[in-house]
Amino acid sequence: MENPWWHSGVVYQIYPRSFADADGDGMGDLKGIIRHLDHIAGLGVDVIWLSPIYRSPQDDNGYDISEYQDIDPVFGTLEDFDELLAAVHERGMRLVMDLVVNHSSDEHAWFVESRAGKDSPKRDWYWWRPARAGMEPGTPGAEPNNWGSVFGGSAWEYDPASGEYYLHIFSRKQPDLNWENPEVREAVYAMMNWWLDRGVDGFRMDVIDHISKDTALPDGAVPPGSLYGVGAPHYMNGPRNHEFLHEMHERVFAGRDEMLTVGEMPGVTVEEAIRYTDPARGEVDMVFGFEHVFVDRGPDPWLLYPLQLTKLKAIFGRWQAGLAEVGWNSLYWNNHDQPRVVSRFGDDSPEYRVRSAKMLGAVLHLHRGTPYIYQGEELGMTNAPFATIADFRDIEALGHYAQAVDHEGRSPEDVLTVLRARGRDNARTPMQWDSSPQAGFTTGTPWLAVNPNHTEINAAAAVQDPDSVYHFYRRLIELRHKDPVVVYGDFTMLLPGDEKLYAFTRRHGDAELLVIGNFSGERVRAELADAEAWASAELVLTNAPAPADLELEPWQVVIYRRSA
Ligand code: NOJ
Repeated sequence: MENPWWHSGVVYQIYPRSFADADGDGMGDLKGIIRHLDHIAGLGVDVIWLSPIYRSPQDDNGYDISEYQDIDPVFGTLEDFDELLAAVHERGMRLVMDLVVNHSSDEHAWFVESRAGKDSPKRDWYWWRPARAGMEPGTPGAEPNNWGSVFGGSAWEYDPASGEYYLHIFSRKQPDLNWENPEVREAVYAMMNWWLDRGVDGFRMDVIDHISKDTALPDGAVPPGSLYGVGAPHYMNGPRNHEFLHEMHERVFAGRDEMLTVGEMPGVTVEEAIRYTDPARGEVDMVFGFEHVFVDRGPDPWLLYPLQLTKLKAIFGRWQAGLAEVGWNSLYWNNHDQPRVVSRFGDDSPEYRVRSAKMLGAVLHLHRGTPYIYQGEELGMTNAPFATIADFRDIEALGHYAQAVDHEGRSPEDVLTVLRARGRDNARTPMQWDSSPQAGFTTGTPWLAVNPNHTEINAAAAVQDPDSVYHFYRRLIELRHKDPVVVYGDFTMLLPGDEKLYAFTRRHGDAELLVIGNFSGERVRAELADAEAWASAELVLTNAPAPADLELEPWQVVIYRRSA
């Protein structure tokens, strides 16, 4: 398809559990979302992505699905869903669902049947293996290989009834589906078609670069100080990943041109992304890469590294260049797995929170690709003040804490310092609608504490204030919708060696944009060859008084436009 709609589209992600609670049980729900659709439509976004709302034991907040073709009672019913879908479509937006098919819940009927015995017809729908040769099943070290699970502990769970183990890259309640088995693939495609026939507009595909594994399941290298081997090289971007995604495309998306597909791929390189998103190959429209959100991580997961702007720019620059001719980028700072960007790369102090949140938004949205906004990002929501481990709810935070403190001998305070900066619960505190006691999120007790700063930072205040982050995001979206240079302009990184300024141009036909973001709390002058000419160009958008001579205020961003 020439110029698909999502090239100029902007996506808004809802994490339903934390968005809005209509029935007062402390957990967000579909009726809560319906109530607040105008907040999203008011931004001008084109499409909503809903994190999982399917039936689930909620071990990983819905990323563990026990029935794919139903809604979890916590969120509502299929009737509520149809009402939501209609309300989204009425507002001229689309709705994309989360597709979690690398694994199911251990409570899914498929797994229950698979677990029933070695001769179950569904045994091979999951990864069952005997103990390591020569070892007594169920004893320490007898797991079929040495892989650690993403959430801590071994990636294998022993099943005493059959004397075998099943693989779970995530929690033990998230057994990995065996995509080598064609019956599994057919069942997944049938389910996807069922949702598309119901009217949904596409899928965000959870860890979809994990579905093809090296079937030998070899041991992984064990990093110093770790109890487990790293399995990722053997289960990410495996030998049949492209084949499976192409088959899915043929079986599900062929003939449904308007659908949006985005594959979450923690291990993807830009070279692989080109192949995954090349329209001629028929796999997915775009992928979520992780290189830029790993920018402040190092080999030791328990150390915090400050942002090195030159490194961040090198990563974005490589992706922009790599996908310039073939394929398409997705653009994101935040989602339900990442800490809040204003706390991470900006300055969340009262002085600069709003300004730095706007700068970060502008820099991201002016790249070439489809931008994703995560709920609350448009308010400049911040990380949360978690005091102790008891304040966290996330299975990953709790699992890592237990492994690091109980088994690796790390100090609880050190581990907490890292969780406070990086923990996924930072993104999951309830949406801040107003300044009332539970931020307008619930009339009950929220499942995760509301950030106390909701008295200042909330949607009601932001919508009222023309200078808010909300209205700035609205202008960014408007700009993308009306100016083809934002959508199709080619991308040139400037000042790659500068640790404070993030600068680039975009050019399309005779239109050219210059974007400069100041990632520092100091005034900085952009030393560009044609600075003088740019300084007299049209200043399309900024978040501080117009600069003279490209000398930017702390955390300022400028977007200039000129035509040749
Ligand atoms: C990626 C999801 O974004 C994350 O929230 C989840 O825990 C894992 N995949 C497992 O489904």
